[in-house]
Amino acid sequence: MALVPMRQLLDEAAKGNYALGAYNVNNMEQIQAIMAAAQETQSPVIIQASRGALKYSNFNYLKHLMLAAVEENPDIPIAMHLDHGNSLESAKKAIGLGFTSVMIDGSLKEDSKTPTSYEENVEVTRSVVEYAHPLGVTVEGELGTLGGIEDGVGSGKVQLTDPDQAIRFVEETKVDALAVAIGTSHGAYKFKAEPKLALEIVRDINQRLPELHMVMHGSSSVPRELVEIINAYGGKMPNAKGVPMTEIKSVIPYGVRKVNIDTDGRLAITGAIRKVFVETPEKFDPRDYLGPARAALTELVVAKMRELGTAGHAGDFVPKTMKDMQDFYKDKG
Ligand code: G3H
Ligand code: 13P
Ligand code: ZN
Repeated sequence: MALVPMRQLLDEAAKGNYALGAYNVNNMEQIQAIMAAAQETQSPVIIQASRGALKYSNFNYLKHLMLAAVEENPDIPIAMHLDHGNSLESAKKAIGLGFTSVMIDGSLKEDSKTPTSYEENVEVTRSVVEYAHPLGVTVEGELGTLGGIEDGVGSGKVQLTDPDQAIRFVEETKVDALAVAIGTSHGAYKFKAEPKLALEIVRDINQRLPELHMVMHGSSSVPRELVEIINAYGGKMPNAKGVPMTEIKSVIPYGVRKVNIDTDGRLAITGAIRKVFVETPEKFDPRDYLGPARAALTELVVAKMRELGTAGHAGDFVPKTMKDMQDFYKDKG
């Protein structure tokens, strides 16, 4: 079994100067697709579930699907991560399910919409770290807010991360990783005109705190070919635009170790299903469209793993246990 703390995956990625995709899941096909891609490319992997995903799958179903992935892939290090936890309670719930990592998005209040003050963010983030670290669980925090409100996460206003505050925040909270707001947003409509990111924020933070692992949310690239498939088969997604992979790759040498990808997977799945429905309207067995959807997602994730440099690193290290991490945090004090 290779269920590992996310902190180890990020530390290893820093050593090897690559990034890991963190892929959102809600169901069996998504988990199988991501694991097939990890097998094909021999990549360590972060599988993440939002609060919405946990609710949709009735918590226990998703937990056991993830554990099945661990059991079926003993050679692949897997971190189970809570995406956008909104309170200490949500973190406790995920940790109770066996997640090895949690995000506390203290940049927003519990409603996941209203921005918090810096002090409120520190307070809730610290409370999660104080709960999680003695159990060996990794914590990701967030400073600054993304744009976009499509998924019910986000204030709709962008507040870029202030590098000075970021350094202070990491010292004051002791998070393992920090999500930075640099102009990305969740969903398929990230930019009205040309993509514009404040990548200098990442470089600035990295210069001052080189050991910090940074996380990019809203990092789907919204590949034109996937949008074209959707639109060709009856979909309607005009002006969908994402973050070019070249921009993401350019900041990997500056400490970006986790790249969150949900939307691109949704596009791959939707396109494949629409195609089956339009081309073979007589079909009604879910396997006839969920199978192609799973295959399309695998293809997408294989490409991501290669581009982010994750491919080939599954066997680089001996998986750490949660007990190892408990000792690690105790020693760090
Ligand atoms: O944060 C956004 C992720 O894409 C998760 O989306 O809350 O709809 O599951 P969700
Ligand atoms: P995308 O919507 O760009 O895939 O971002 C996903 C994300 O940040 C999940 O936390
Ligand atoms: Zn996010």
